[in-house]
Amino acid sequence: MDNKVIVTGGAGVIGQAICRRLVESGYRPVAADLSDALRSTGFDGDGLDTVELDVTDLASVRAAVGQALEPGEQLAGLVNCAGILRDSFLGELDEAKLAVMYEVNIVGMARVTDTVAPRLAAGASIVNIGSLTGHFGRFRGASVYGATKAGIAAYTRYLAEELAPRGIRVNNVAPGVIRAPMSPSMARVSGGEQASAAHAMLNRIGEPEEVAEAVEFLLSARASYITAQTLLVDGGTVAW
Ligand SMILES: NC(=O)c1ccc[n+]([C@@H]2O[C@H](COP(=O)([O-])OP(=O)(O)OC[C@H]3O[C@@H](n4cnc5c(N)ncnc54)[C@H](O)[C@@H]3O)[C@@H](O)[C@H]2O)c1
Repeated sequence: MDNKVIVTGGAGVIGQAICRRLVESGYRPVAADLSDALRSTGFDGDGLDTVELDVTDLASVRAAVGQALEPGEQLAGLVNCAGILRDSFLGELDEAKLAVMYEVNIVGMARVTDTVAPRLAAGASIVNIGSLTGHFGRFRGASVYGATKAGIAAYTRYLAEELAPRGIRVNNVAPGVIRAPMSPSMARVSGGEQASAAHAMLNRIGEPEEVAEAVEFLLSARASYITAQTLLVDGGTVAW
């Protein structure tokens, strides 16, 4: 049975939670991430393979996919979770900072997906990790990050159409603010945990495991008639 799933950004906070959740369901996740990120995780090797990957470098992506799979082996799924946030306030234009967000969040996702697509089994599933900022306007400073994440929702829909003839489903999980160490950019944009919690109907931020649960569901056959969708895992933030 094909049960291998590549998880880009698999050494990150949400990526690790996804890998752990997939192991519980009998998948064989391969955490694919930058070498420094892989080195700094607490992965203890229990059922978890890792591979070095830089989504901004096509040669690295091809090498990682080649390393993750045996010749002729097919994938049950792909989780595109690698992503970066840089704040972008009006009047503080920094072209390089904005370009790198597109390079990782959008072009990087396309690079990985294009490379992986021929190795996906019939009936496989892709989950792209977007963000509530792609669907929301209340996190000032997240304009360009939010644009990349809105782009992921569009990318998901088009990709779903292209892969549907092979029985491959593609969905987008868009998390709200999730408990994780906040970078200076994230703290600036979100205003911190308390301010973020106040945006959610449930009046709290989310846990990485709550995102992982949605990803596992969408990867699985339990979601067999769901494709081209965005599922917000945001405690009722966007709807409010
Ligand atoms: N934490 C949140 O509140 C939140 C909310 C909404 C969406 N997201 C999205 O969820 C995903 C995971 O975020 P996280 O909170 O776990 O952050 P994180 O920084 O812990 O994880 C992101 C991972 O992506 C990896 N990455 C960055 N650039 C890469 C590259 N060039 N090649 C390969 N890997 C690269 C990083 O090394 C890191 O391990 C991201 O796409 C993020 O935009 C996070």
